[in-house]
Order: sequence, then C-alpha cells, then structure tokens
Amino acid sequence: MMEWTDRHWRRFARTLTKCALLYTEMVTAKALIHGNVQQLTAHSPDEYPLALQIGGAEPQELFQAVIKTRDLGFCEINLNLGCPSDRVQSGSFGAALMKDPTRVAECLDAMHQASGTAGPEITAKIRLGVDDDDVNKTLPEFLEMLNQSPIQRVIIHARKAILGGLSPKQNREIPPLDYSIVHSMKKEFQAMRIILNGGLESVEHGLHEAEGLDGFMLGRAAYQKPQTLLRIDPLVFGQSAPHQTARDALLAYRPYVESVLTSGFPLKHVTRHLVGLYHEVPGARQFRRILSERAHQPGADWSVIAEALNTIQDTEQA
Ligand SMILES: Cc1cc2nc3c(=O)[nH]c(=O)nc-3n(C[C@H](O)[C@H](O)[C@H](O)COP(=O)(O)O)c2cc1C
Repeated sequence: MMEWTDRHWRRFARTLTKCALLYTEMVTAKALIHGNVQQLTAHSPDEYPLALQIGGAEPQELFQAVIKTRDLGFCEINLNLGCPSDRVQSGSFGAALMKDPTRVAECLDAMHQASGTAGPEITAKIRLGVDDDDVNKTLPEFLEMLNQSPIQRVIIHARKAILGGLSPKQNREIPPLDYSIVHSMKKEFQAMRIILNGGLESVEHGLHEAEGLDGFMLGRAAYQKPQTLLRIDPLVFGQSAPHQTARDALLAYRPYVESVLTSGFPLKHVTRHLVGLYHEVPGARQFRRILSERAHQPGADWSVIAEALNTIQDTEQA
C-alpha cells in the first residue's frame, strides 16, 4: 500500500507474523526501467515471503520491469489493476486497465514470459469492475481471460472502482462490497486461486468470508491495527506467533530501529507505523501522543518508544 507498506513497516510486520505474505508499495514499470531499481525495491530477506507490486500498461515495459526485478528475491510479482487514483488513471493503468482485458492479457503474458518458469509467480490484483460495468457479465469475462492466460492466482478487491468523481479513499469505502460474486467466480473458475480483499476487519472475519476461497488479504486492518497480525500465524497457519504480545514484538523490533537511526534516518520514519499498535487499552492514547509528538524532535531515539511503551499496562495479552 502506497506510503504505508514501506520496508520499515514490513520489518515490523514480521515481528507479528512469520507466515503472512507481505506486499511492497506499488512501483511503476517506468520507474523500474528508468530509475534506481535497488532503491525502488529495497528490502531485506528478513521480510520474506514478499511480493512486489508493479503498475503499468505497456507489455514491453512490464516485460522489462520483471526482467529487472525477477532475481531480487520476491516470490511474486503482482500487477495492480485496482488502483483508482487520478495519477494512475492518467497513465491508464491500475483499475482503468480493467476496461481493456485484451491489453491486460498482453501485459500479464509479457510479465510471465519475463519471469520464466523459475521466476516469481505473476499475479493480478483487480476490482469487481469499473464505473457502470455490469459486473455479472464483465467479471466472468475478465476471469475467463485470466483463466486463458498463464495467471493462476488473483486478488479481488470485492468492490467496483468508480473512476470519475470518487477519491481513492472514497473508492475504498463507497462502492458496495460484494463477497458473494467472488464466491460465484470461484465456483465457475475452480482452478483459479482467488484471494478475497476489501473490508475484512480481522483475521476471524477474513477466515469466515473467504471460506471456500484460497485466502484473504488484509489492508487497513493490518496497518491500522497491527496487533491483528499476531493472530495470523496461529489462526491461519497453525503455527505459534513470533511473539506472545505486541510489547514483545516491539521490543524485538528494537535492533532494527537502532540500525535505521545509525543509518541516519529519523525515528519518525519508523514510529509513524507504530501509532496504531494499541487501541482501547489503558495508556493507548498516551502511547500514540508520545510517539506522534516526540519522534519528530531532533535526536529522538529508542527511548521515545520505550517511554511510550511504559504507558501501556504490562498485563497486556496478545
Ligand atoms: C493508504 C493506502 C494505500 C494503498 N495502496 C495500494 C497499492 O499501492 N496497491 C494496491 O493494490 N492497493 C493499495 N491500496 C488498497 C488496499 O490494498 C486494499 O485493496 C484496500 O484498502 C481494501 O482492503 P482493506 O479493506 O482490507 O483495506 C491502498 C490502500 C490504502 C489505505
């Protein structure tokens, strides 16, 4: 997620779940071709399993972008067909590209060719449709196109994108969710692995709504309430969580925070991702206030996080 799932967040997420697949922010194919690939895709193996998300609409560019990134350690390269922002629309990619399934097929085919048989899996992230699409007609057609392509896994954000008039935020809230059509698609395209996304508020909610599907993706719930992630390994993967409590996870994050500071980055680059760690427990508001106010000050270091953590009662349970 743009501005959210940067490497600092992903590293923190890994103290809360070992098993969940994490995604990078979207990087455009053009940027990967013309920019500094190492910088644009910077990550650590400690973040694995990790998928790279790419935006683009030109098969040739997407081919090159995958060539440049296929050996960097990502297990998946995902094409963004769901982003409704104006900037993305003006490049005619993201959700706007769903209007042109033939082009999408060419893009995915090019990405698949570039990845080769041993490279990262190529996947797509889509919406139910765009604007005034009759999704009962267009979604099966779109999935049929995917079914004919080498793509075997798709993430479906279970609402339409409205390309004129709604902001990206409104486009995550106003078009109604329709999980049932996603389930119908799974019945029709049984070999396609279908991952449900959109409006899932907890791991339990995801497991419930995605029953019969091939998985679920959490966006805002994972970011805004990171403690949600502590439940993934036990509930989804049958493994113990990396840490029993958010406090333990945060303490385990300390060496990484120190390394970020040593590299010259300010503390706020990491604390911006931590403010949602506590909700509705004694001290949560104080925790957020200390992080928001003090992490910006010159010389701010781990002691700011330690002080914030002191406001939370240590009887916390995961
Ligand atoms: C700040 C923000 C940035 C996002 N950036 C991306 C992105 O880069 N690529 C993408 O496919 N989806 C992006 N999304 C959409 C989410 O991946 C997800 O599809 C959407 O929020 C619905 O899922 P949720 O209800 O679990 O949050 C973004 C969402 C937010 C809130």
